[in-house]
Amino acid sequence: MKNKLIGAAIFGQSGGPTSVINASAYGVIRTALDAPEITHVYGAAHGIVGVLNDNLYDMGKEDADELKLLMNTPSSELGSCRYKIKEEHELKRIHEIFEKYNIRYFFYNGGNDSMDTCSKVNDYMQRIGYECRVIGVPKTIDNDLVGTDHCPGFGSAAKYIATTISEVYKDCHVYDTGAITVIEIMGRHAGWLTGASALASIHGLGPDYIYMPEIPFEMDDFLRNVQRTFEEKNNCLVAVSEGVRHRDGTFVAKAQISETDGFGHAQLGGLAARLAHAAGQKTGAKVRGIELSLLQRCAAHLASQTDIEEAFLAGKSAVEHAIDGHTGKMVCFTRENDHGKYRCGITYEPLSVCANMEKNVPREWISTCGTNVTQEFIDYVLPLIQGENERLLQNGLPRFAQLKKIKAEV
Ligand code: F6P
Repeated sequence: MKNKLIGAAIFGQSGGPTSVINASAYGVIRTALDAPEITHVYGAAHGIVGVLNDNLYDMGKEDADELKLLMNTPSSELGSCRYKIKEEHELKRIHEIFEKYNIRYFFYNGGNDSMDTCSKVNDYMQRIGYECRVIGVPKTIDNDLVGTDHCPGFGSAAKYIATTISEVYKDCHVYDTGAITVIEIMGRHAGWLTGASALASIHGLGPDYIYMPEIPFEMDDFLRNVQRTFEEKNNCLVAVSEGVRHRDGTFVAKAQISETDGFGHAQLGGLAARLAHAAGQKTGAKVRGIELSLLQRCAAHLASQTDIEEAFLAGKSAVEHAIDGHTGKMVCFTRENDHGKYRCGITYEPLSVCANMEKNVPREWISTCGTNVTQEFIDYVLPLIQGENERLLQNGLPRFAQLKKIKAEV
């Protein structure tokens, strides 16, 4: 018999947003609001920072229809943070807030750094004997979380990237004089997103070269490849990860102006322009560097319906698992074969397995030459980008959720 735990819940969003992270928010919030065990549902403003600052929103005071619009609203609606818990007094403060609002359920939506926060909160509450159930909800366009087949947010970003590459392919082939185009794609340490550019090749509109962080970047090889292809085809289209590194492990892209965030990560960028310039110097061709930047992670208009539904499922499953008596877990996806068709299953892994770890693209899914992906990679990503989202449009524009964000009181 499960131990019935009655109390309030906090939900928080953390790390870089995705175009479907709010579908997970809706999965958590709706399920928690409907659960008899959960007395109040609070949203943390800017994740754990909102908990530390006693800045919570009362989600029970939101209009039900507006909440539902979270399903198609990009980026972290409650606000996000990149905050690493370092000191015991921070955990004490979180406990103080939990006591104040009688928080018995804590749901944290983020990537591997955020699972570190989630894990620390869980361990602390266990250690001091405060009864509370803590479940992590995965998200990241980078798709690098350990323990799960794939991450909510990745499928939509992959769909955007493959679509955009196909469109840019058309545009960059228009001039008789030819062109070299370099497109920079996010994914700080893993090449899942950059590899997804290869999906455009299914219709013959893909990049000539794909540079991923898993393979050390050599400038001379890059320039040789681009020159050869430009001479052969009067054109060359390159997809490059912001996270490509030199053989010594340093980023090729590291923006000089950036501060590191709470987890010690520098903002990357400027690589496409740099590589395009170098290619122009070498070949004399017309060049263009394009940084997809935030566009790839907030493009709700191109979100994959599969991804939206799975993101919702991740949030809903987190609440159900906690109510069932579990704590210290992250919701994970499994890949099921349903009579030859893809189906997403749910499992739960200990937070300690998922926190702070990164999953790279396996070497065998990268072509031998290191600048393309294999059919296995394509087969892995393709089911995740399926389905068009059904969003509300007004005046020809997307109508996103407009929450009241009423401050919680006890
Ligand atoms: O969360 C993942 C991610 O989108 C990476 O792909 C990217 O490098 C990073 O976040 C950017 O972070 P920020 O928005 O904090 O600059």
